[in-house]
Amino acid sequence: MNKKFYITTPIYYVNAKPHIGHAYTTVAADVLARFKKLQGEKVFFLTGTDEHGLKIQKIAEKDGKDPQKFVDEVAEEFKNLWSKEKLNIKYDKFIRTSDNKHKQAVQRVLEILKEKGAIEKGTYNGLYCEGCEQFKNENELVAGKCPDHDMIAENISEECWVLKMEDKQAELEEKIKNDEFEIRPERYKNEVLSFLKDNKLKNISISRSNVKWGIPLPFDKEQTTYVWIDAFLNYLTGLGWDGNLDNIPKEWPADVQLLGKDILRVHATIWPIMLLYLGMDLPKLFVHGHILSRGKKMSKTLGNAIAIEEMLEKFGTDGTRYLLLSAGVFGDDVDVTMERLIEKYNADLANGLGNLVSRVVKLMDNMGDVEAGVSTGINISKCLDDIRPDEALNVIWDSIGKQNKYIENSKPWELVKTDENKFNDTMKELMANLHVISDSLVPFMPETSEKIKKALEIKQTESLFQRIK
Ligand code: MSP
Repeated sequence: MNKKFYITTPIYYVNAKPHIGHAYTTVAADVLARFKKLQGEKVFFLTGTDEHGLKIQKIAEKDGKDPQKFVDEVAEEFKNLWSKEKLNIKYDKFIRTSDNKHKQAVQRVLEILKEKGAIEKGTYNGLYCEGCEQFKNENELVAGKCPDHDMIAENISEECWVLKMEDKQAELEEKIKNDEFEIRPERYKNEVLSFLKDNKLKNISISRSNVKWGIPLPFDKEQTTYVWIDAFLNYLTGLGWDGNLDNIPKEWPADVQLLGKDILRVHATIWPIMLLYLGMDLPKLFVHGHILSRGKKMSKTLGNAIAIEEMLEKFGTDGTRYLLLSAGVFGDDVDVTMERLIEKYNADLANGLGNLVSRVVKLMDNMGDVEAGVSTGINISKCLDDIRPDEALNVIWDSIGKQNKYIENSKPWELVKTDENKFNDTMKELMANLHVISDSLVPFMPETSEKIKKALEIKQTESLFQRIK
């Protein structure tokens, strides 16, 4: 039987249009999913939108729209950005938390959690950041504001239902330590462990009385489900789960859950604790860094973001996919400016890959037979198993650089006049290597890869990437 591979992205808030940060995670997930599919694994790739909660309720009100209509429109924008014409994301399912099936399953899970004694009635007061949709500790705020959202955290005190986090802390720590609950890269695992060592987990409020735009608790209709509890369950309802413990989908647990470091804490505490109470297996998390602009996280709220649409206009689908993933180590923060993107586009795509393809294809015109040559091969499996798409691209571009050097040194345009055999051998090698390069590009730049293969067949190529000024 083929190995299963279940990969998820976080589901994105629909309070604003999709942006570069969302694109970053989703393109990475798409590359991993495509790669595993090529390797013959049984892949399920889930993405979607997180549509409930206070900030979405408020923004819809401000827009004068019915919240459902509002979220319908923004969810469409996400789907549109993932379409073949834009970022070419081949997900298996796009889950929306306002889907009826999702809502019913969440209610079922809440009932089970209540039966198991994991949640109970209580009161809660604390400082709430609407941007994060999270209660914050005072020491996480700067002058009363959440630094991520530059928003005042409001003091909220209300009756609600709470999830008993405290009781599961020891078990959680143990499972993180022994990798039963895997958090990668290692430093993020250590970060979570050191947080858990220094802090006693507090029980958290899992319902809200003043938020109408949410899933009503099945046993307390005055309250709606806290948006993070609702959202986490997408990772299971996206597989078609109805919330019953005897129906757990065969794809579970997730083999890779990608997420940005800003949402690690919740993913490493609330999410696994819910699963522990349910008696379900724990997923593997992989945490990536943020795209920064001059040292600050790019975000709509902070107004320093490069528009993903602008990238698509300038660099096209594959150009944008390449530039996002090659921006830096996946896991670390990466600082991006439009000037640097243009520079990289010209160097790596127009000059590096584009030039190599057009030179080889033009020279092929002078060849007699087109037998297969022997290639040196490219191995990106290890990089992608380690979730280092950036490193995989380095390996591929290393080979592209080598082939360009080889052309410059061997001067096939001279050989064609002086030594036909040597010319043919050189070309065969170049073509074989270009084949391998295009194979390894499939998950990253599916259309470019196809164009290269076609060009090698018909001995003609349109210029792949035009230089940008
Ligand atoms: N809705 C929640 C997630 C719920 S998952 C059960 C959420 N949504 S979000 O739209 O705010 O962010 C989703 C993802 O986008 C996060 O992983 C976050 O790290 C990522 N990014 C948002 N801005 C980013 C950058 N500037 N750079 C890289 N990724 C960042 O949180």
